[in-house]
Amino acid sequence: MPTIAVLPGDGIGPEVTRVALEILRRVRPSDTCEEYPVGGGAYDRYGTPIPDRTKSGVDRADAVLFGSVGGPQWDGERVPRELRPEASLLFLRVHYELFANIRPVRIYPGLEEASSLKREIVGGLDLVVVRELTGGAYFAQPKEFGERDGVPYALDTILYREPEIVRIARIAFEVARGRRKSIHSVDKQNALETSRLWRKTVVAVAADYPDVKLQHVLVDNAAMQLVRNPRQFDVILTENMFGDILSDESAMLSGSIGNVPSASLGKRGEPGRHFGLYEPISGSAPDIAGQNLANPTAAILSAAMLCRHSLGDSAAAERIERAVDATFASGARTRDLVPEGQAYLSTTAFGEAVAARL
Ligand code: IPM
Ligand code: MN
Repeated sequence: MPTIAVLPGDGIGPEVTRVALEILRRVRPSDTCEEYPVGGGAYDRYGTPIPDRTKSGVDRADAVLFGSVGGPQWDGERVPRELRPEASLLFLRVHYELFANIRPVRIYPGLEEASSLKREIVGGLDLVVVRELTGGAYFAQPKEFGERDGVPYALDTILYREPEIVRIARIAFEVARGRRKSIHSVDKQNALETSRLWRKTVVAVAADYPDVKLQHVLVDNAAMQLVRNPRQFDVILTENMFGDILSDESAMLSGSIGNVPSASLGKRGEPGRHFGLYEPISGSAPDIAGQNLANPTAAILSAAMLCRHSLGDSAAAERIERAVDATFASGARTRDLVPEGQAYLSTTAFGEAVAARL
């Protein structure tokens, strides 16, 4: 039976992960779920955001259900960079080569009012951001932070090698084939060398997918088009940092960043049974942590993605997704989805509403 490593982390991570885990247990009662410390809380207790027992637990697992990491108490210069809460997540992405990050954004019928855009612009929105997750500015060396000639300075590097672009592009084309067969590849080729290589490589990969329509968009234009006419997008393929930014923007169109799950997949495993890490795309939301106010949808849907991609259990995934649909259709809302002063469900109550519809 599969083993799932559960890493709740900081902020709202534990409360939304608890709800997701409850639902996962209902649809997959025989799996083993093991909980491990990660992030700032782990740093405070063990001196590292990713203790050895967490690493070995993840090594043994078939998938990771991740909450969120970080918070103001570990920000700034308080904690060395390599020991920051976020370092745990970046470690897991790189160590397991989880290069393919899939972030599906949908607007649930009835949630159009919650979006900051007009109903006629966001109604029916359904796109996927396919973000390269282990390259680019996040990881390339050199990285420096210091002083030169008495002047503080910092340096990041953006680096992409062709094979890294090929493999993420293939994922995007495969995803597009299962959808509306349209890809917008996002780059900044008018200013960046890595983007020139990105565009050239994506064009070459496209030759193998003549049934998929490929368009190129500059990242600034993509950011604009997302708020102008987001429904033109089916699959958005992009590099690490652009994907980070555009996925938050896309998520907000759905009414709340708390609605959007993600899967980070790598080479380990086989189709349908990939080792993967599953997490809400939002952060740890320290301002509302511990108050039972967070929207657990992203965490619940991350568990659904885990069933689909790591457990080969599409039926369980669909059961969870249908229950979330039905919950929203019933009018249930968390605080982030209603205007100030209107009634809403707590994190746990929303979770129970989903569980009741499984
Ligand atoms: C995300 C997050 C992370 C990222 C942070 C926590 C390092 O914002 O998963 O989008 O930038 O990738
Ligand atoms: Mn992000």
